[in-house]
Amino acid sequence: MEIIVLGSEKDVAYKAADLVEEAMRNNPTAVLGLATGSSPLGLYRELIRRNRDEDLDFSKITTVNLDEYAGLSPEHHQSYHYFMKTNLFDHININPNNTHVPEGNAEDLQKEAERYEDMLMSMEPQDIQVLGIGTNGHIAFNEPSQSLSDVTHTVSLTDDTIESNARFFEGKEDVPRSAITMGMRGIMRAKKIVLIALGKSKAEAVGKFRDNEITTMNPSSLLKLHADVTVICDSEAGSMLENSEK
Ligand code: F6R
Repeated sequence: MEIIVLGSEKDVAYKAADLVEEAMRNNPTAVLGLATGSSPLGLYRELIRRNRDEDLDFSKITTVNLDEYAGLSPEHHQSYHYFMKTNLFDHININPNNTHVPEGNAEDLQKEAERYEDMLMSMEPQDIQVLGIGTNGHIAFNEPSQSLSDVTHTVSLTDDTIESNARFFEGKEDVPRSAITMGMRGIMRAKKIVLIALGKSKAEAVGKFRDNEITTMNPSSLLKLHADVTVICDSEAGSMLENSEK
């Protein structure tokens, strides 16, 4: 695992965009694994700019997203469908048919989880997977727990996560209590992983990348088992790393 600490959010976004661009230039039909939330926003802005100004071509790219809230329609403004559309897909030359986000408002969420997993496994592994990290160490919505699921599944969100994500809703009560999420297999099969962490609230979770523990109570610790992970963080998120590479 390589950990890179950079001075500003903008530097983090550029560095992450460089890695995504490299994967796309190496393979014009690449599969990109994408995340939502505040961490990848700068990356998406930079990818939009490179698509517009620098011929970074998305026309043959496929994307798979990590997760979606249960019960939210794609039109709901806090849904991850809407997030991806407004923050990336609407602004690049991607074919919408090649973008995939789990259906949070499917009638049968279990069936939807199975469909999504089958679809994922029928694709080439992600050339690069973008991740954020929860303050509690979650990746996608794989929450700290006695055990983790390998496949796409429905999950109850922890209080920590509901609390953290309340900032995107009118209030805490409006945050959905469950979600559908890619499991650990879907994430770990990516050829390369880039995890973005910004701000002080992520410092403790990022600091744990430097210890030697792997535990399902900290799902991000499993990333230590992956051969090609780059963590890119700002100085606040990196403030609890010892011997950090600047
Ligand atoms: C989002 C996701 C989550 C977020 C994490 C950090 O698709 O899977 O794991 O990456 O909750 O969220 P932000 O970036 O909003 O701090």
